[in-house]
Amino acid sequence: MVDAHPQSSPPMGSEPPTQARPLKVTAMDAPLGAIVEGWDPSADMTAALKAEISRALATHQVLVFRGHTLPTDQRLVRFAQNFGDLVKGSEWFGDVDPIPEILRVNNLVGDDGVPEGTGASRSLEWHADYSYVPTVGKESFLEAVEIPRNNPPQTCFCSQYLALETLPAALVNAVRGKRAYHSITGYTAGGEEPQISENLASDEEFRKGFAAKRERNRKLGVSRPDIPQAIHPVILRHPDTGREILYISKGITRHILGMAEDESKALLKELTEHSTRPEVVYAHNWQVGDLVMFDTLGTLHRRDAWDPGERRVMRQLSTWWTPPAQDADAA
Ligand SMILES: [Fe+2]
Repeated sequence: MVDAHPQSSPPMGSEPPTQARPLKVTAMDAPLGAIVEGWDPSADMTAALKAEISRALATHQVLVFRGHTLPTDQRLVRFAQNFGDLVKGSEWFGDVDPIPEILRVNNLVGDDGVPEGTGASRSLEWHADYSYVPTVGKESFLEAVEIPRNNPPQTCFCSQYLALETLPAALVNAVRGKRAYHSITGYTAGGEEPQISENLASDEEFRKGFAAKRERNRKLGVSRPDIPQAIHPVILRHPDTGREILYISKGITRHILGMAEDESKALLKELTEHSTRPEVVYAHNWQVGDLVMFDTLGTLHRRDAWDPGERRVMRQLSTWWTPPAQDADAA
């Protein structure tokens, strides 16, 4: 796949530059989020810069890097790697990409009829990235390369630290020490399980694209992971911030273990409604070039649908972390 933003490399033998000026971090007029200006993607990371970004992320949870020259694929990977080992996102989604750490979130379809990335223009329900695999997403990086001209979809965020802090004590007690089953079976395989999108036509489009990828991979002799599932504690302690979060993804967290189906369903609905109350949500309006770095473990995000006739092209990366088998306070 062609690099979306080719840039010249420094001449052989020369040292890559370091960030020349401090970042400017401005909090959004919203419950979470900040704009970050002054980032130089061509510069190598320094300990001071990493500390500055990590501090800002812990404070604001969603950082919108804006106004910089777009990084190459390689530079984007190099930047994200400073925060942890990266998920091979394209493999999880059945894609074949020379840079497997970059997930191509787009609605482009190749001449062979196979989606070039995640496919479809459907909405996505509230979720934390990769909660459905044993090694969950910790930070995510999502960058807008192309956005639709008409009604570009927003990406909305809410805090799962705040959700837990403000959760009534009776509900905290109900989930403390519990574990939950996470799966994306329904929307990748077309099974009987709940759909993650509310638009059945676009779910169908997504499933067709996924089936086309599987057939393409079979012909190429490329194996890709099975459709994943995982069990995680409902309350987790974030490894970087040391603070507890509520770890529930709507539509992906299917069942709280040890509870009757009806009871679990009602509780998951109540927890999600609490987390995503409109007054605690930040809705991001994308500009081309925005790189949004977010604490995907400590937040939920969702995306609107868009006109399938328009192109939307994003690059996404995530660091991964393995949660403990049990909520630390329950062990
Ligand atoms: Fe996501």
